Amino acid sequence: MKTIRWGILGCGKIARKFASDLKWVTHAELVAVGAREQSTANEFASNFPVKYKHTNYQSLAENPEVDVIYIATPHAFHHEHTLLCLKNKKAVLCEKAFAINLRQAKEMIEVAQKENVFLMEAFWTKFLPHYQKMKMMIAEKKIGNIQNIAANFGFIPTEPIAPRIYDPKLGGGSLLDIGVYPVFLALDLLGSPDEIEAVMTTSGQGTDSQCAMQLKYHNGALAQLFSTFNSNLSTGADIAGDCGRIRLTHRFHGPTTILEYYPGIIDTREIIPFEAAKGNGYEYEAQHVTDCLANGLTQSPIVKFSDTLLLMETLDRIRQKAGLRYPADDH
Ligand SMILES: NC(=O)c1ccc[n+]([C@@H]2O[C@H](COP(=O)([O-])OP(=O)(O)OC[C@H]3O[C@@H](n4cnc5c(N)ncnc54)[C@H](OP(=O)(O)O)[C@@H]3O)[C@@H](O)[C@H]2O)c1
Repeated sequence: MKTIRWGILGCGKIARKFASDLKWVTHAELVAVGAREQSTANEFASNFPVKYKHTNYQSLAENPEVDVIYIATPHAFHHEHTLLCLKNKKAVLCEKAFAINLRQAKEMIEVAQKENVFLMEAFWTKFLPHYQKMKMMIAEKKIGNIQNIAANFGFIPTEPIAPRIYDPKLGGGSLLDIGVYPVFLALDLLGSPDEIEAVMTTSGQGTDSQCAMQLKYHNGALAQLFSTFNSNLSTGADIAGDCGRIRLTHRFHGPTTILEYYPGIIDTREIIPFEAAKGNGYEYEAQHVTDCLANGLTQSPIVKFSDTLLLMETLDRIRQKAGLRYPADDH
């Protein structure tokens, strides 16, 4: 199998974790990074050696020795940077939130299809062993029919707070940054909701410092979801059915969670084992993308375009209910 050559666009916090995890991915090599400043690219490459240190994103996108680019900039730039790479025939793995709104997400997918180039939202949770085990247990009806989901994600950002956390021009706010995880969970397990209610608390910059959401389904199932930068929450998830419950402990979307199973109506608990991640957990999605590219795919069979579009559409519906708008909504 040929080696897939990776580039990273934007040398920030998540880019470091991802670069570190690439060493666990077979048939993959990090060959290039792109930063806005030479010093940032150099500093990044001192920890993660690469053949090419680009001092702008354009030259990274044009590098003929790169097969796939991981977009690790703030959400407000995902649309622009993804289009830049796709139009240069580079496959793309784009961080969440995939875009600011559904309109941007649709255009990104349309361009990928037109260029016949691979594109995937970096929803790493879907590839993690605990998550796959949970999905298997649900498919085996271990908890019966899902009646309700309660999931939250909350932490108080530590100083110095990155501008992207609250700045509307960078896509700030708790919903797009961390609320995407509880929303993703509800959509993945229950599908598109029939009704949505949402309220938010506004940060000093007009974005949401916290957001509370309720999703209702035609079969009676309910999801109660919460994201916040105002308090440190359990960042857990309860998925309850008519004959059992699964709990994912802190943090439910990542590899550090504990998978707890409460069978039947008596509150006995089983801890369900799963494979431990070798890295930070991003190696699973990176391996999947590498394998997709080696097999000539232009869409992931696991994080499909329809999944990404449903998530973006639901985030738009939540924002409309909560009264949260971004500059990109007016273009
Ligand atoms: N999957 C996950 O678990 C996870 C975790 C954290 C974050 N994320 C996502 O990853 C993305 C980046 O998050 P992060 O925490 O890595 O952000 P960050 O540390 O603030 O870094 C983002 C990088 O984007 C580049 N950039 C380009 N234009 C920028 C601008 N105008 N302002 C600030 N940065 C700009 C910069 O790289 P250069 O200076 O090198 O050009 C910067 O270092 C976000 O969309 C976030 O939601 C995902």
